[in-house]
Amino acid sequence: MTNGYGFEGPTIQLGVLMAEGEPQPGSFIGMPLRMFNRHGLVAGATGTGKTKTLQLMAEQLSAQGVPVFLADIKGDLSGMASPGQPSEGLLKRAQGIGQDWSSAACPVEFYALGGLGEGVPLRATMTAFGPTLLSKVLDLNDTQESSLGLIFHFADTNGLPLLDMKDLRAVIQYLIDTPEVLKGVGGLSKQTAGVILRALTNLSSEGADQFFGEPEFDTRDLMRVTPDGRGVVSILELPAVQDRPAMFSTFLMWLLADLFGDMPEVGDPDKPKLVFFFDEAHLLFTDASKPFLRSITQTVRLIRSKGIGVFFVTQTPKDVPADVLAQLGARIQHALRAFTPQDAKALKATVSTFPHSDYDLEELLTQLGIGEAVVTVLSDRGVPTPVAWTRLLAPRSLMAPSDPAVVRGIVSASPLLPKYGRPIDRQSAYELLAAKMAPPPAVPAPVPAEPPRRQEPTVLEAVFGSSIFKSFARSAASSLGRELSRSIFGTARRRR
Ligand SMILES: Nc1ncnc2c1ncn2[C@@H]1O[C@H](COP(=O)(O)OP(=O)(O)OP(=O)(O)O)[C@@H](O)[C@H]1O
Ligand SMILES: [Mg+2]
Repeated sequence: MTNGYGFEGPTIQLGVLMAEGEPQPGSFIGMPLRMFNRHGLVAGATGTGKTKTLQLMAEQLSAQGVPVFLADIKGDLSGMASPGQPSEGLLKRAQGIGQDWSSAACPVEFYALGGLGEGVPLRATMTAFGPTLLSKVLDLNDTQESSLGLIFHFADTNGLPLLDMKDLRAVIQYLIDTPEVLKGVGGLSKQTAGVILRALTNLSSEGADQFFGEPEFDTRDLMRVTPDGRGVVSILELPAVQDRPAMFSTFLMWLLADLFGDMPEVGDPDKPKLVFFFDEAHLLFTDASKPFLRSITQTVRLIRSKGIGVFFVTQTPKDVPADVLAQLGARIQHALRAFTPQDAKALKATVSTFPHSDYDLEELLTQLGIGEAVVTVLSDRGVPTPVAWTRLLAPRSLMAPSDPAVVRGIVSASPLLPKYGRPIDRQSAYELLAAKMAPPPAVPAPVPAEPPRRQEPTVLEAVFGSSIFKSFARSAASSLGRELSRSIFGTARRRR
């Protein structure tokens, strides 16, 4: 067994082997650093140690110079910014597994979605977010999703920048109110436009307006390394948006899709460029449309060659679609319950996804202690390691939330705050359409210089006619410098 875990090159230590219920100090179970871009799954029932396992991996990755991104759903990961506290229980456990425990804090950057909560505000523009992800947030059906795609395409091709929620609402309202333009869009009914508009209004009333707009987060800011060579641990604080699970899980997917679009191909590097932990991953997959699932699968498959590792964290492997599961090289399975017939089914399904071993996994998985897991990873040669019952090491940072004052201090000293701290509201679709609808000014505005020639007049230009409006709209669009080719996920990004 221990031969199967003796790797060449730097390794992330997970814990020690258990044999006959006793830890075997010195028999280390770990995962090669260079295999972190081959993805993984951390699963287990509630309270079994999933979050501490993330913390353990994340702090070692950081120490070895790899930036990490984590979503903190329950607020307990903020402890990574503080050194751990040596309780008697902790030291005893450490001694039992031969861990020479000492406390250490990590270099942490805190983020908050739209600035809700303590953290540097994270925002994305509507146009960057794109129709596929937005459909997931709005819970649209397939027809409505493709209609939303048409609306985005209409805005993209008509110089109507969609930065925030009111931009998209204004464009849809405009289409509803202007039948001759709506007809030109083709395949979009007034009724469906109305349904989407109502869904957007509901989303706004839930307070989602803050997430959409500028300044848009540049995902390359997640790739920072400190001057002393440690990877920055980026923690997205989510407790404030817990009641909007579709929103935050989709936002995480946007971050990943955006990183995917931005990073160069690197093949299989010696160590990953970034490891991305997707906690509460079931939220991403439940009720997801086929195009959405296809996009996740494709992103996960392809992002590996950009040196980015993705770890999904959820209660059972059943929460993750088979196509995605098949791409996860590492498995850290904490205890499962077998109280109900459904539990029993999930347990059987979990066992069937593991490679063959001498363990009676159905029994072992229900008997694992807290902070123990059944582990299999990819070796340094890329083959699955033997399934190993493992007692995990204790994280060196705090296993409880950091003092709120510590978090506040880090946020207010963040070098990113000047860049993202304040929302900005630029000229975009809402303002452009409002100006169009307003009565013309008494004195004509000076005509700006004509931008370079372009091909066909767009539907909107044909309808709007006015050259003042045309150049106004065009210069607004080009000043945003948007490159409106949409990626796998229908996300778009600024040309950088
Ligand atoms: N590796 C470990 N070393 C020491 N103690 C641990 C370890 N893992 C878990 N524990 C203990 O178990 C408790 C629960 O762990 P954790 O919060 O990680 O569970 P979880 O699976 O994330 O639960 P939930 O599903 O509720 O989020 C921790 O507060 C800690 O006391
Ligand atoms: Mg947890």
